[in-house]
Amino acid sequence: MSRKTLSAEAVAIVKATAPVLAEHGATIIRHFYRHLLQAHPDLELLFNPANQGTGEDKTRGSQQEAFRGDFFGREGAPGAALTNALQGSLTSLDDLPALKATVMRIAHRHAALDVRPEHYPIIGHYFLASVKAVLGDVATDEIMEAWREAYGVLADLFIDVERDLVRKNARTPGGWEGFRPFVVRQKVMESDDAASIYLSPKDGGPLPHYEAGQYVTFRVEVPGYARAGGSTVYRNYSLSTAPGKGYFRVTIKREPGAKGNPDGVCSRFFHDHVGEGDVLDVSTPFGELTLVDSPRPLVFIGAGIGITVMFSLFQSALDRGIDRPIYFFQMMRDGRHHPLRREIEALARRHPNVTLHRCYSQPSAADEPGRDYETRGRLGLGTLARNLPGNDCEFYFTGPIPFMRSIRGALHVFGVPADRVHYECYGPHGAEIEADVR
Ligand SMILES: Cc1cc2nc3c(=O)[nH]c(=O)nc-3n(C[C@H](O)[C@H](O)[C@H](O)COP(=O)(O)OP(=O)(O)OC[C@H]3O[C@@H](n4cnc5c(N)ncnc54)[C@H](O)[C@@H]3O)c2cc1C
Ligand code: HEM
Repeated sequence: MSRKTLSAEAVAIVKATAPVLAEHGATIIRHFYRHLLQAHPDLELLFNPANQGTGEDKTRGSQQEAFRGDFFGREGAPGAALTNALQGSLTSLDDLPALKATVMRIAHRHAALDVRPEHYPIIGHYFLASVKAVLGDVATDEIMEAWREAYGVLADLFIDVERDLVRKNARTPGGWEGFRPFVVRQKVMESDDAASIYLSPKDGGPLPHYEAGQYVTFRVEVPGYARAGGSTVYRNYSLSTAPGKGYFRVTIKREPGAKGNPDGVCSRFFHDHVGEGDVLDVSTPFGELTLVDSPRPLVFIGAGIGITVMFSLFQSALDRGIDRPIYFFQMMRDGRHHPLRREIEALARRHPNVTLHRCYSQPSAADEPGRDYETRGRLGLGTLARNLPGNDCEFYFTGPIPFMRSIRGALHVFGVPADRVHYECYGPHGAEIEADVR
């Protein structure tokens, strides 16, 4: 990561004024989106309206309001990622592992969505203009200059990191930049509401190596879906196998609309309209949730469709010949909503170092305890502690945000140090996952 510096004066001003920006954050972001999207409707497509950050009723509010959690993330007040980064001191970025991890996570997301260097001045312009418009005279020239400087430093940092990620992927044998057409070779229902899609490059060329745990972005045209910029939708999906299988596979859950919200745009499209022979635009793999180099036992915890990335890590660990204990906890509604189950169980039968534990929250009459699942109810600390030799393991988990928060809290109580806890969010990063840890 390249070293960027910010003047001490600017750091002091930004730190002192960040709380004022946070206080007016919602108004600033509304103003920002309205003006940004009026001038650049094409950028609207990059943002997912479902990913708002407030947890309020998603049916209410304007589309701009719905966007406000996306930009600068969900970390509470809009602009928080920016202000946190700056408060963390831009003068010594390399000395701050936590900040570096945040920058890398965001950079992977940006790069996967094809956020480009030329977008940064546009976003910076509208963001700063909105700060000025909302704060008025409070935002003096001196304050605005400090924020401009700060935004510039952070933008340069992201641009550098993202360019490196994109170049690395493009130069990998079999790699590319942007999107590459892939043909759907096979579509398989894995459960009542999840389908696996097997893909290979349309050009017949090789596939790049990727790290288990990474995800790709699909860029799809969804008929009938209209936003100001068009009908293109961008969504991330984890590659749901270990690398080296000769294809890319994703496993997609149909996302139902709830409480008056529409059905999930992209997942419905995949379930209802995508079939063998169709061609889809796919990015190179991104993401930094990968297997860490460690001698400890591995623990994978997957809830719902979060099983996909856990399966990829699990399969990869076995492909690598890891023979120390591996524990795979699966939290599902019931046996009809348990994707990849057969594959997981087949691998477990072949590898004596693997222990599976299946929790069903609402087992159906067809699900037999002992045969189909071990625990009825939710997965929590008790089940983890009873089934693990102790806390000296590497823990990986993914699932719905409330589940992730509860597992993160449980691991904290279990005494697992933060550097042995690894997770991925299937949406904007949920800062609340760490809420019970501090
Ligand atoms: C790194 C990563 C990996 C992922 N891997 C997987 C994976 O392996 N498998 C998988 O299935 N998913 C995965 N996802 C999630 C995936 O990217 C999509 O978010 C998911 O498929 C839902 O997309 P959608 O377009 O179907 O739903 P969306 O249209 O995004 O809707 C999602 C929900 O929000 C509601 N909603 C829609 N529009 C609005 C609105 N305007 N306001 C309020 N609410 C609204 C919908 O009713 C729905 O319940 C991953 C996400 C990330 C970030
Ligand atoms: C310094 C400037 C920027 C900062 C601090 C920033 C910060 C963030 C953060 C924190 C996230 C959430 C990542 C996560 O969930 O882990 C995010 C996502 C995103 N950012 Fe940025 N960003 C910046 C610039 C940009 C630019 C220039 C664009 C281009 C238009 C952009 C587009 C996006 C998109 C599309 C997402 C995904 C939103 C979604 O889930 O729908 N960002 N950004």
